[in-house]
Amino acid sequence: MQVTDAVKRRASVRAYLDTPISEAEIRDWLTQAQRAPSGGNLQPWRVIVLSGPERLAVIDLAAEVLAGQPGGEPTDRPIYPPEITDVQKTRRFRVGEMMYDQLGIPRDDKGARRKWFARNFQFFDAPVAVFFILDERVGHGQWAHTGMFMQTLALLATARGWGTCMQECWGILRPSLKAHFGLAPHEMVYCGMALGHPDPDAAVNALYTERAELEEFAELRGF
Ligand SMILES: Cc1cc2nc3c(=O)[nH]c(=O)nc-3n(C[C@H](O)[C@H](O)[C@H](O)COP(=O)(O)O)c2cc1C
Repeated sequence: MQVTDAVKRRASVRAYLDTPISEAEIRDWLTQAQRAPSGGNLQPWRVIVLSGPERLAVIDLAAEVLAGQPGGEPTDRPIYPPEITDVQKTRRFRVGEMMYDQLGIPRDDKGARRKWFARNFQFFDAPVAVFFILDERVGHGQWAHTGMFMQTLALLATARGWGTCMQECWGILRPSLKAHFGLAPHEMVYCGMALGHPDPDAAVNALYTERAELEEFAELRGF
């Protein structure tokens, strides 16, 4: 698949078949993505990839913690900053509405929306789960470079016919995940990623999100 096609086709996948992905395939995929660039070639990322009982153990952990603390655990690195612009708020609202429309869940059915959101913590049934681990001592640059690695993984997954969904929602379970994975004191879970074969019949997977027009984000000078 051409890179252009992979970029166009990649979209967050939120329903999966139970078709497994082998350890050999995962190793190959990770090795390919390792070509992602990073400032000073620091390669500041580390991943923990889960399948089988290890994946189930994290699902159980999430269920247990969220039963006691439905809003999740405190974090000093919230998923969204306290202030986002009105334009960003509108985009966030819009993608939520598009997704719930696709799922046939009305706006006032808060219970159904909460239930759907909770599917995040089952990786949307994806057979593989990836967690991106960062050294808390790195700066904003290394966070951005880890994003390059994540997108490289997502595009390579698309080229293989796999689907992905980034899952920063796991940030609300950072302390529990840190203990569960036995991370070093200076390490943290940044984000999760669901990985597997997309369910072609799931309505939610037909969601193709919008993007701002070029004029909104690009300024071309001197052409
Ligand atoms: C870093 C990051 C974290 C995300 N976290 C979540 C998440 O926790 N749950 C979810 O359903 N989608 C999550 N998403 C998916 C976004 O909602 C999605 O990328 C965006 O709406 C654009 O849609 P697309 O990926 O289909 O192009 C995340 C995306 C990124 C890049």
